[in-house]
Amino acid sequence: MSASLTAFAYLIASVCFIMALRGLSSPKTARMGNIYGVSGMVIAILTTLTLPSVTSFGTIALGIAIGGGIGAIIALKIAMTALPQLVAAFHSLVGLAAVFVAGAAFFSPEAYGIGTVGEIHVGSLIEMSIGTAIGAITFTGSIIAFGKLQGILPGKPLVFPGQHMVNLGLGIALVLCVIWLTVAQSDSAFWAIVAISLVLGVLIIVPIGGADMPVVVSMLNSYSGWAAAGIGFTLANPALIIVGALVGSSGAILSYVMCKGMNRSFFNVILGGFGGETATPGMEDLGDRTVRQGAAADAAFIMEQATKVIIIPGYGMAVAQAQHALAEMAQVLEEKGVDVRYAIHPVAGRMPGHMNVLLAEANVPYDVVFEMDEINSDFSSTDVAFVIGANDITNPSAKTDKSSPIYGMPVLNVEEAGTVLFIKRSLASGYSGVDNPLFYEDNTMMLFADAKKMCEDIVKALKGGGH
Ligand code: TAP
Repeated sequence: MSASLTAFAYLIASVCFIMALRGLSSPKTARMGNIYGVSGMVIAILTTLTLPSVTSFGTIALGIAIGGGIGAIIALKIAMTALPQLVAAFHSLVGLAAVFVAGAAFFSPEAYGIGTVGEIHVGSLIEMSIGTAIGAITFTGSIIAFGKLQGILPGKPLVFPGQHMVNLGLGIALVLCVIWLTVAQSDSAFWAIVAISLVLGVLIIVPIGGADMPVVVSMLNSYSGWAAAGIGFTLANPALIIVGALVGSSGAILSYVMCKGMNRSFFNVILGGFGGETATPGMEDLGDRTVRQGAAADAAFIMEQATKVIIIPGYGMAVAQAQHALAEMAQVLEEKGVDVRYAIHPVAGRMPGHMNVLLAEANVPYDVVFEMDEINSDFSSTDVAFVIGANDITNPSAKTDKSSPIYGMPVLNVEEAGTVLFIKRSLASGYSGVDNPLFYEDNTMMLFADAKKMCEDIVKALKGGGH
């Protein structure tokens, strides 16, 4: 392929990646987005294979077969709730790849056309040292994030005295090593950058609580993108630069969206200490507060009498995989003439779009699924708010209690509905570790059970009872 044809093919691949991101921004177009993404990747790989410098086809085919095989098995087996840690694990590999590519370019600059050993162009040295540093930080940081999300490492923030000073010292040492590499082109400088960055990756992530890991994973995703873009400059590969910048900026935007949905600053997340493990209040610790409990038959009775029901799904629905039973429940209610809609909070669950994906999987029509802003004013004219495995996103103290850690976080106005039904297993707090005063309100009925089991029982009661 001629150089201009190669550049054109890379451009087509880059356009496919942009279309993929656009498609993935809505559940309706997400499938198409994925197809664009796959097409872009196929074009990029095939184009790279036609480059004159690419000769070891056997090794490449073996790598694609092993990597693709492992990827396919994981994609088929992975549970929806385990996606954040899977993404973290994948990002660690992107970071490692950036370190390997930078290392290869540093030790064999001729192969990349960036000079000879000891005579590498200064611009390339700066690019590769930054790519190496970000890549190595992403590698170990993502492994720690994976360990925390998978429960292999303690989710609690790990803090020690002088931590910020140690990080600052390492950061300064890293900058000095980048200068050292650029000036002296020394092997030791390269390995020092790798070593310091690997340690920094661990130290930056350990003080952050397990619950804040989704924001961190998205931030590391952004880092891995910038690392790839940096390497793209070294390799003069426009597709890598464009794709790296797309990943870098979309990861940064995603982190921003999550922080905004929680009304927390990025620094508040990075400095950590939020969402540590909390005790579950037992029935005996309620003081003078009371909790009204109900069974599936009560919930079925209340909902079939209702005209309007809004369902609020949260993390517990994902844990219980209750979306299919929930969709069936909604369908039975619809058949009985009840108007059923869904309200999606921007940070319901543990990743953006988490609830939308699960509802789409259960074939819930898109036109009954509403974003928070579209539906939040309707609760006051709704008979029943059916909260399934959600907690923080309904907590009214975010609106009223200035001392609450979630004060200012936008929440769904669930308490304005005639009756609030809450499916959860206990009175335990959610992700933020904050008690929810809604559990003790007169118009709330707690349905203590696993979300899937409760929905199945409500369906049975609805079908058995009927009007
Ligand atoms: P949470 O506030 O975490 O509440 C989920 C509730 O589900 C828990 O209180 C739990 O209570 C219940 N639950 C767990 N397993 C269950 C099961 N098998 N059956 C029934 N209930 C079950 O979730 P939310 O309301 O969706 O709010 C999301 C939280 O995550 C917010 O604080 C948000 O800031 C945070 N967050 C979200 C994101 C994104 S992007 N979505 C990113 C970072 C952080 P029991 O233990 O009593 O059952």
